[in-house]
Amino acid sequence: MDKKLRINLDIVPKHVAVIMDGNGRWAKSKGMNRVFGHKNGLKAVRETLETAGELGVKFVTLYAFSTENWKRPKLEVDALMKLLVNSLKKELPTFQENKIKVNAIGNITSLPKRAQKTLLNVIEKTKENDSMTLTFALSYGSREEIVNTIKNISKKVVNKELEIENIDENIINNHLYTFNLPDVDLMIRTSGEKRISNFLLWQMAYAELYFTNVLWPDFRKEDFYDAIIEYQNRERRFGKTSEQITE
Ligand code: FPP
Repeated sequence: MDKKLRINLDIVPKHVAVIMDGNGRWAKSKGMNRVFGHKNGLKAVRETLETAGELGVKFVTLYAFSTENWKRPKLEVDALMKLLVNSLKKELPTFQENKIKVNAIGNITSLPKRAQKTLLNVIEKTKENDSMTLTFALSYGSREEIVNTIKNISKKVVNKELEIENIDENIINNHLYTFNLPDVDLMIRTSGEKRISNFLLWQMAYAELYFTNVLWPDFRKEDFYDAIIEYQNRERRFGKTSEQITE
């Protein structure tokens, strides 16, 4: 049976976050260098976005570069940055045609100037698009984000713009890099690793976690369907009982 027919379009996750893992291993298995793996990861990015769009997923967040990734060899870091700049430039017409709004989370000012400039330009040009929000997590680490959030909230308290008693989950949400995004519903990680790796810790509090052995460059439409089908077969209770959910 066609996998797509098994998907209930009324309950697709609103926000899907992806840890695109396994590029290096994929390349190694082919006797190639790691950068070759990242380049081939782009096809999986395109296919994921197409499929998400087709199913009506409104928010897709991709873990493209973590705060820890700066420790990789300079050659690989430079290649990843170049890949980001070139892809953003190349895909801008596609973002416009498909009304995709591009967004970024992370310590963006730590990126090379050229990458920042291209990114900000694409964000500005796509800001009115409304069919899907595509967020790139770049130089992103969830703990760094939380530290940054605490600093910004503390400044407001010191400046008497905010009372300590009024700090609640909403205030924290509004100070995270993801202030304009809903909570994550489904997190997909490829390559068989079963970790969250400092990705959207606060935002994934109630997310369904889906792990697949497929390496990122091999991730295709059918694999995305599998993740959605699994998500739809799980019961999300948010702390309630099954009976309360079905009432
Ligand atoms: C993890 O695989 C992947 C990354 C650190 C980079 C992800 C980047 C891409 C898919 C390229 C597309 C980027 C854009 C423009 C959005 P890994 O290198 O950790 O693989 P390994 O675990 O097998 O070594």
